[in-house]
Amino acid sequence: MLTTSLFALGLFTALSVGFDDEIPADKKLAMDFLANAEKILQQDPVDGKFGLSRMPGIHGRPAFRVNDPAEKGAADEWKKLTDDFVPAVLSFGLFDEKGTPKRKGFMYSYYHLNHTNFIENQDYFKAERKFSDEVAPAAAKKLFLSGEKTATTEMDYAGRKAMIEMRIVTAPSDKCMSCHEGVSAGKPIGVLTLLRIAKK
Ligand code: HEC
Repeated sequence: MLTTSLFALGLFTALSVGFDDEIPADKKLAMDFLANAEKILQQDPVDGKFGLSRMPGIHGRPAFRVNDPAEKGAADEWKKLTDDFVPAVLSFGLFDEKGTPKRKGFMYSYYHLNHTNFIENQDYFKAERKFSDEVAPAAAKKLFLSGEKTATTEMDYAGRKAMIEMRIVTAPSDKCMSCHEGVSAGKPIGVLTLLRIAKK
């Protein structure tokens, strides 16, 4: 009995370690960024900016309030991500009873992947539409309904592989409900979707 338990424990430990080891560094970085982005969104909005408008604008990093520990984490991770990847972040909210998101938001200037200089091909416009209108909303719905906190997927982006990481943003308190009606504390308000394509 003891031997069996020890064996099971050993196997469990080996499996957990195995799983940890299998998370590639870039995926971990992306997930860490989303976790810190959630922390930013979970602060009470006090400056008239909501949802992804609270995330950095066109020049990225300086728009984070780096003195805020929560924002420093996201700023550093965003900087590292943009060194190696062209990223785009979408948010989904206002989920109906079937889990379909009725609102989409984006981080200004980082949504339009086809504006970046390595993307010159019309196919990228099609890929962008496919991502924002089909792949991302469907993946957000699936995650929303799953009860899980995070999910990952990928898509073909005009011949390039695009990695997609997602994270549920929950309401930390009932204060969020003054605007996000019908969501209760601890429950999902929205889904953040990060798409990234390696620069080389
Ligand atoms: C004063 C109203 C208001 C309050 C309070 C508020 N939000 Fe929002 N929130 C908004 C609006 C408006 C949007 C849509 C912004 C856009 O699309 O540009 C939004 C968008 C979001 C989104 C993106 C998904 C979506 O629904 O579009 C998340 C996530 C979010 N809010 C989280 C929170 C959390 C967490 C709180 C509580 C800490 C909170 N909000 C409090 C008004 C509010």
